[in-house]
Amino acid sequence: MAKRTTIPQIMRLKGQRPIVSLTAYTAPLASLLDEHVDFLLVGDSMGMVLYGLPSTIGVTLEMMIAHGAAVVRGSKKACVIVDMPFGSYQASPTKAFENAARIMSETGCAGVKLEGGQEMAETIKFLVERGVPVLAHVGLLPQHANQVGGFLTQRDEEKILADAHAVANAGAFATVIECTEPAISRRITNEIAIPTIGIGAGVDCDGQILVTEDMIGQGTGYVPSFVKRYAEVHEDITKAAHNYAEDVRNKRFPKA
Ligand code: KIV
Ligand code: NA
Repeated sequence: MAKRTTIPQIMRLKGQRPIVSLTAYTAPLASLLDEHVDFLLVGDSMGMVLYGLPSTIGVTLEMMIAHGAAVVRGSKKACVIVDMPFGSYQASPTKAFENAARIMSETGCAGVKLEGGQEMAETIKFLVERGVPVLAHVGLLPQHANQVGGFLTQRDEEKILADAHAVANAGAFATVIECTEPAISRRITNEIAIPTIGIGAGVDCDGQILVTEDMIGQGTGYVPSFVKRYAEVHEDITKAAHNYAEDVRNKRFPKA
């Protein structure tokens, strides 16, 4: 069995070559993506993409653990990181550790991701000192969408910069930067020692991530404008369903 990419290996890619990441929520998709990425993120975006929820707020620890375990089973090579859902880490570092430990032990993933900058630095440090690798997430924070009134590009350069420094100093192994001006993520990438993984944050991050269903054109809902579509899977699915229905109605399937 091929050895999985490790977190230190991902950290060493900064300055060497761009880091490649995609989301995965299920074993079959994880197995298709496995060879092509450095790490797979089991994102809480699954709430919106898979479960039809209006935001990521309704995603539970149990959902993250079930899908995280599926992605670990479906992959062999990629490093797997699992999102901590809303409500599972904000109350206290202790609560965060208990839930992160469940995610790691029940899924077999390499580490967790949580949203937040300066306000989460203490929690990140607490987790990292106790053996939980943390991928941070600054800029647009989807779990705060209710508070800020939607999914909006983040423009407060000094705040985002301070957040990025705070999570790096707290021991995060890398940080996602979501929906910021490219000039801001370029500056962060130059200033902090850990890799930056951009989504809607320009080309100068140390790596890139997209929601796979957006990238392959599987979703039917809203897709952010920064997404590049590499396939139109929804067309194949629609065509297949249409042809199947026609065949059944016309007794062309099954064959005698
Ligand atoms: O939930 C998610 O998919 C994410 C990435 C898009 C960064 O947090
Ligand atoms: Na997320």
